[in-house]
Amino acid sequence: MRKNIVAGNWKMNNDLAQTESLLNDLKNQEATSNAEIMVAPTYTNLYQASQALKESKIEVVAQNMHFAENGAYTGEISASMLQSIGVKTVILGHSERREYFNETDELLAKKVDAALAKGMRVIFCFGEELADRKAGNEETVVGNQIKNALFHLGAAAFQNIVLAYEPVWAIGTGETASPEQAQDMHAFIRKTLADKYGNDVADGVSILYGGSVKPANAEEIFSKPDVDGGLIGGASLKAEDFFAIVNAF
Ligand code: G3P
Repeated sequence: MRKNIVAGNWKMNNDLAQTESLLNDLKNQEATSNAEIMVAPTYTNLYQASQALKESKIEVVAQNMHFAENGAYTGEISASMLQSIGVKTVILGHSERREYFNETDELLAKKVDAALAKGMRVIFCFGEELADRKAGNEETVVGNQIKNALFHLGAAAFQNIVLAYEPVWAIGTGETASPEQAQDMHAFIRKTLADKYGNDVADGVSILYGGSVKPANAEEIFSKPDVDGGLIGGASLKAEDFFAIVNAF
């Protein structure tokens, strides 16, 4: 169901003590918007965060998971393991995992299937490289990423999918996509969904923008009609900045 969502992707940051400190700061912040709030700590801090935020408005989500239920996958984590510690939502397809861990559309389709099969919600990430955009290929690239990993699904599956458009050239660079660029791509994404599944499905999916969202630019980006919130990296590591973005609606 389409909602405003602000999710903080902590990436590989915060040890146990730093996590405790940030969680306490987050609990002391006040949410003044209707946005759903999520934070994604690293694996080693997920249980602690899940317990600490259990009574709060903040949902704890995972940054990744494997497609297998269990077995000889050293270093990996399954959906069941995440659910056993109270985690019900998982980020999949982040560009850093596509780049550094060679996660292909085909592998991500298996991960999406595994997460949905266990009743988890998926925040599915995608986005073009700078070279794609300079060549005018951004819609082709993004359209293929969505179709290759998601278009084998039935319409009902999209009740548990949040889409996150993250132009790779905007991640961690300070080069935020303009609100108009974000809106144009989000409208294209929503049309791509509508062409396949109809307007009811397309209009029911939250589409988040990620890529150098900061307190100073969040309000204008979130004001666009097809932008339903943000997936936040660097700015999610300070509670005050993160909640300035949460409250930017
Ligand atoms: O997943 C969100 C992340 O990729 C965006 O990072 O630091 O540009 O907000 P950042």
